[in-house]
Amino acid sequence: MLGIYLSGTGNSKHCVERFVRLMDNTGKALPIETENVVDEIRDNDFIVLGYPTQFSNAPLMVRDFIKEHADLWREKKVFCVCTMGAFSGDGTGCTARLLKKYGANVLGGLQIKMPDSVCDSKLLKKSFEANQMIIKQADEKIEKWVKKIKEGIYPGEGLNLLNHISGLMGQRIWYLKKTDNYSDKLKISDACIKCGLCQRQCPMNNLVQTGQDKPKQLGRCTMCYRCVSHCPAQAITLLGKNVVEQTTYEKFASDNT
Ligand SMILES: Cc1cc2nc3c(=O)[nH]c(=O)nc-3n(C[C@H](O)[C@H](O)[C@H](O)COP(=O)(O)O)c2cc1C
Ligand code: SF4
Ligand code: SF4
Repeated sequence: MLGIYLSGTGNSKHCVERFVRLMDNTGKALPIETENVVDEIRDNDFIVLGYPTQFSNAPLMVRDFIKEHADLWREKKVFCVCTMGAFSGDGTGCTARLLKKYGANVLGGLQIKMPDSVCDSKLLKKSFEANQMIIKQADEKIEKWVKKIKEGIYPGEGLNLLNHISGLMGQRIWYLKKTDNYSDKLKISDACIKCGLCQRQCPMNNLVQTGQDKPKQLGRCTMCYRCVSHCPAQAITLLGKNVVEQTTYEKFASDNT
């Protein structure tokens, strides 16, 4: 079994790693931007695909990856996992439909609530304890479903018609402009200390930082929030105007495994 994931703040990474580890102790999980990920997918017949929900959609990078490698999916068994801050409607369905179009056998889907990665919005901020509790519940949910899957019962979260309608009408249609193109809307403030970390971390190679200049963006941002949540100077924002408090899975999960 192979897990692949896009993860900005570590939530989807954690959920896919945990799911794969509990399902198959010989399995492994890799970031979707890993150089040889296509070869790895070819060599495995059961793929767990994980990513963060964005406006009840899958990140554009993930959708493009599926389309650009359309020949990879024929007869592959795929299980879709999306993580979310609150609501994703058909977050898993958004990739499941594409994968089926390219011949995959989608076995099921899980939509898992995790801490919200949008750290430049006050509205989405939760307390440390609330986020710890959310992670605990997510871990229990994964464990519960892995047990059921081993008995042959697969969850179908996000995969039915009602989920499709709720995802579409609840959010996707209203935010289509935000998700149908890569973004060039990162704001980088003068607080930037030109450390280059954001360039090294970006899964899209969207940022270029040279010498004493602030990073420049290349219009290829898939809105994962990795740079926003890791910048040591809290200099980067995307949807909001100020970083309220950087959010990463590790910050809330010190007691979890
Ligand atoms: C641009 C963007 C849009 C988001 N949209 C949604 C959403 O529609 N519904 C939701 O519940 N969470 C939403 N979130 C929150 C993330 O899906 C959630 O925090 C996820 O677990 C982050 O996973 P990651 O750490 O693997 O990137 C959004 C996050 C970002 C960055
Ligand atoms: S991580 Fe932050 S401080 Fe470092 S170069 Fe990027 S924007 Fe500047
Ligand atoms: S620029 Fe930042 S938010 Fe955009 S894809 Fe790269 S790391 Fe993610």
